[in-house]
Amino acid sequence: LKKLIVEIPDHPYPVMIGDNLFSRIKKEMSKIPRRQAVIIDRNVDKLHGDRIRKVFSSIKGDTEYFILKSGESAKSLTELTRMYKFLLKGSYAKDSILFAVGGGVTGDTSGFAASTYKRGIPLIHIPTTLLSAIDSSIGGKTALNIDAKKNVIGTFYQPDGVYIDLNFLDTLPKPELSSGIGELIKYTFLSELNFFFYVLNNLNKIDKLDYRVLESIIFRCASIKASIVAKDEKEESGLRKILNFGHTFAHAFESVLNYRIKHGEAVTAGIIAALHLSNRIGLLPENRLITYLKLPQKLKLPASIKRFEVNEIIEAMKEDKKNKDGKINFVLISEIGSLLIDVSVKKEDISYSIDKLIETI
Ligand SMILES: NC(=O)c1ccc[n+]([C@@H]2O[C@H](COP(=O)([O-])OP(=O)(O)OC[C@H]3O[C@@H](n4cnc5c(N)ncnc54)[C@H](O)[C@@H]3O)[C@@H](O)[C@H]2O)c1
Repeated sequence: LKKLIVEIPDHPYPVMIGDNLFSRIKKEMSKIPRRQAVIIDRNVDKLHGDRIRKVFSSIKGDTEYFILKSGESAKSLTELTRMYKFLLKGSYAKDSILFAVGGGVTGDTSGFAASTYKRGIPLIHIPTTLLSAIDSSIGGKTALNIDAKKNVIGTFYQPDGVYIDLNFLDTLPKPELSSGIGELIKYTFLSELNFFFYVLNNLNKIDKLDYRVLESIIFRCASIKASIVAKDEKEESGLRKILNFGHTFAHAFESVLNYRIKHGEAVTAGIIAALHLSNRIGLLPENRLITYLKLPQKLKLPASIKRFEVNEIIEAMKEDKKNKDGKINFVLISEIGSLLIDVSVKKEDISYSIDKLIETI
């Protein structure tokens, strides 16, 4: 079992990671006898519902369950309204806790509901995908989509705890695991060379769900994210922007492909393009580029990436909600652990990087 604290000023909270953690922390969960509203992703409920109910039935306080539809379309006002009605019907209030059991979709939707229902009720995340364990459950961003516009409404709302039980990952479909690995690769670039090589050398163990390796990489990524958000909770100083490494490209790829690509695959492709772009503008020397490409290039990317039209990608980049003053901004890298934010580049450099990406996959 590993534990860290997200040191948000005035709102520190624990992140716990472990094998069979969920059953092991019953005592911890029983400490504050409250009423629990448990939001569960439908797929997770089918696969783990019995275990989840067993744990909650053994702790103090009443528990009611709300099954959230699975998939990105759950991040909608329709599901949110259904959730508010469930909370109202059960008379949940500030002395209750909302548990979000699922991936990033469940976390984002439940987080939004918890932050707005009665101006905020306590929230605990129980992430069940690799992506949500290493990234989305920590840091307090909540979001909903409006039609095809992703994450256009949202709040910053820190949870009171994040409990990561590795056993949930046993049932995660392979493409979802790969999607999480895309974000994991991003974290290796925000970290240090040792971690980069650790991940590079242990990819097959991650693939085989080796708990020891998973616990260690989740702990590492969670620690990186925790230290960034503790210093820049609401994206004010700019530090938090480094978490968008590879994402200017990734969001454009997702949009051009109408989201028929997994987020982590788009991030992996985005990282390859961002590495080439960093090299192109003279930031990243050739020898480092070659080493750094080794990790993202280990992941198999979908053939749809080969059909990119550069102008279309650039048009999509212009829509990115992170742009300022009409400029497309990139996060680029000079060395692992040294990233530059808000870099704007020439159109031909973007075009060069996408050509290089297409060549290398
Ligand atoms: N808030 C943030 O900081 C932040 C950061 C990154 C991403 N996100 C958001 O997270 C979402 C993506 O998260 P995700 O990749 O976890 O997707 P997800 O929540 O849609 O889960 C992926 C799929 O796996 C299923 N699933 C979840 N856990 C499972 C398990 N243990 N076994 C079997 N199936 C399981 C789900 O039903 C779903 O079909 C996006 O909406 C993205 O915008 C938010």
